[in-house]
Amino acid sequence: MGCASCHGQNGEGISTIRDGYEKGPSLVGVGAAAVDFRVETGRMPLAQPGSQAPRKQPTYSDEEVAAMAAYVASLAPGPAIPTEQDYSIEGLSDDEREEAIVRGGQIFLTNCTACHNFNGGGGAMPRGGYAPSLKGVESKHIYEALLTGPQAMPNFSNGNLSPEEKRDVIAYLRSIEDTPNYGGFGMGGLGPVSEGLFAWVLGIGGLVGFAVWIAAHTTRSTKQPIEEGAEA
Ligand code: HEC
Ligand code: HEC
Repeated sequence: MGCASCHGQNGEGISTIRDGYEKGPSLVGVGAAAVDFRVETGRMPLAQPGSQAPRKQPTYSDEEVAAMAAYVASLAPGPAIPTEQDYSIEGLSDDEREEAIVRGGQIFLTNCTACHNFNGGGGAMPRGGYAPSLKGVESKHIYEALLTGPQAMPNFSNGNLSPEEKRDVIAYLRSIEDTPNYGGFGMGGLGPVSEGLFAWVLGIGGLVGFAVWIAAHTTRSTKQPIEEGAEA
């Protein structure tokens, strides 16, 4: 199955509801990166309408993907396919890599854990959707997902998250893959940064709880003086 049957002869999209579902959105301006990501991860061509296109075995060769990506890029400007220079962490020294992992961990905690979980394991989304596990996802595809924001995921354009920050996130995700999972608490391999933050959140939670308890206690003792008198 090609792409035109759902996205239109010129990638303009087919918005009418046919066979009970909306066929496909316009590809004008989505950029080569969106095509590369969707087709290389097997999400496109969509085999079956559902709440979310699943990852599957890709059905096109590299040359075919490149040609489709170039075609979509020719329709209107959009994010380009990142190069190895953008996403590779191979060129970093050990120190640089350590620093990238720490920064990437902080970015991940702030921007990604809400959907992808603390350990990148993924989680459920509203309306039958899900944020997938990030384990084993190719660095290029991580970068492209950030650039293009597939489905319910927000897009992190280079204005929001600079190319260096994207690479930091990739360094972090690669690092938690390498670390053994200690299990039990579901925090395996998170590293000192995120575990520290988690402890901090728990600590604050505890303080808030204690404050509420004190407030409730105070109210009770001022509101019910008779009860206290009765005890005396
Ligand atoms: C059976 C219908 C169908 C076919 C066939 C199909 N698509 Fe899609 N495509 C969709 C739907 C529906 C969406 C929107 C849902 C989503 O984002 O997953 C979509 C989304 C996309 C997007 C993301 C658009 C955006 O706004 O970022 C790209 C890129 C894409 N398709 C490319 C392709 C390419 C390239 C092919 C051919 C190899 C293809 N599609 C084949 C239905 C289809
Ligand atoms: C609001 C929820 C949400 C947030 C926040 C979010 N994502 Fe996602 N992410 C998703 C969903 C949903 C998908 C699946 C989209 C699809 O399959 O079309 C996804 C897909 C991905 C993928 C593709 C995985 C694959 O199997 O190909 C990567 C990589 C990714 N996200 C990384 C991130 C990173 C890194 C961040 C933080 C900078 C982030 N996401 C923030 C919801 C989110």
